[in-house]
Amino acid sequence: MDTSLPKIDQFLAALDSAVADGSFVRLALRLPFGTDETLKSIDVKPATIREQLKLSFTFHHQTRDLVQNHPPAGAIGQLRRLMEKDFRQAFLFTTAFDLQFDSQGKSPRLKQSEPTSKAPATLSHDRAKARPIPAAGKAWLTELGVTGADGQVLKAAGDKFRQINRYVEILGPLLKAIPEGKLNRVVDMGAGKGYLTFAVADYLKQNLGRSAEVVGVEFRDDLVRFCNDTANAIGIGNLSFEQGTIENFDSAGADVLIALHACDTATDDAIAKGIAAGSELIVVAPCCHKQIRREIETSNHGNALDFLMKHGIFVERQAEMVTDAMRAMILEHFGYSTKVFEFISDVHTPKNVLIVATKTKRGKDAAQLRKLAEAKEFFGIRRHYLEDAVGL
Ligand SMILES: C[S@@+](CC[C@H](N)C(=O)[O-])C[C@H]1O[C@@H](n2cnc3c(N)ncnc32)[C@H](O)[C@@H]1O
Repeated sequence: MDTSLPKIDQFLAALDSAVADGSFVRLALRLPFGTDETLKSIDVKPATIREQLKLSFTFHHQTRDLVQNHPPAGAIGQLRRLMEKDFRQAFLFTTAFDLQFDSQGKSPRLKQSEPTSKAPATLSHDRAKARPIPAAGKAWLTELGVTGADGQVLKAAGDKFRQINRYVEILGPLLKAIPEGKLNRVVDMGAGKGYLTFAVADYLKQNLGRSAEVVGVEFRDDLVRFCNDTANAIGIGNLSFEQGTIENFDSAGADVLIALHACDTATDDAIAKGIAAGSELIVVAPCCHKQIRREIETSNHGNALDFLMKHGIFVERQAEMVTDAMRAMILEHFGYSTKVFEFISDVHTPKNVLIVATKTKRGKDAAQLRKLAEAKEFFGIRRHYLEDAVGL
């Protein structure tokens, strides 16, 4: 170690060497003093991501953790800034020694000690992540073009693979909570090529040991034929697809209603079918929000929203929020408890909002309709498509 260098440079040089010779185990930043008061600490560990060595930073904020992965050179620059501006202490753990940097006093100090860990870090990132739907050993994933014959996820299908896994991860415990006799039929509206429909059928049978049937509803005849042929060829007995529109589908007996990116008002039709069936669970990831966007753009909302409406991007975002928040209100009116949240990072899809509605009450909640009327008036919306679909 070149002791003539400033202490921070010595510390970062030690990190650089440890990363280069593979002895780096982990690094921790403690004692925050920066402007972001929510940032409490940071942990850094090595990880291989797509066969590249990265330093994986976990930023521990008060209410959430954020992960960033950086190539080593960029990571060292980032650490220098963090040590100068945000944290008083940094701890470097290598298999050869531990090194502590402390800038609490008048001048920074370095203290080297025996290594806490003599075992090299496991570069865990690329290890198969435990997913509800694993890539390997699922013939239907290969037939649907998500995985290759080797059981690896194909590059173009990575986002879809993550989406269905995340969706099933959220849906799984909710399905599990439905008593045996009350879970007989799951309906997937706007099933498309059946990615989610196959995933849910597979998960129900293989992971939960449930015998409920899963039905995909789709108006494209070619997709319905393909999906039914695939399900039959692979022998997935609890799965079938019906050709037709969501609007005309008889949803009676649908205990659970799901939809992933059913276009625009097709999501409303799906929700309406779930409400009509009294489904225990309605889970939808909406897609485009054109109907309410048109309403907002063409209606008279006074001047109060002009400052937002002059920016196309905010009209878009407003339409999305208003559409889905009103869907939640209507669901609550019909006795559902709702949660609306991002179910996957927007890196994988911008259509990343999920509405989860669980039937908790029998009657109707008139207060929700009053709130809906006020919200419609505020935004100058004449009708929300879902109001008509559910006969309000
Ligand atoms: C964006 S794709 C999503 C497909 C699938 N859920 C997925 O995430 O992979 C929407 C699908 O819904 C179907 N769809 C849209 N509106 C529909 C309607 N009213 N009735 C039946 N199918 C509909 C479309 O044909 C399309 O296949």
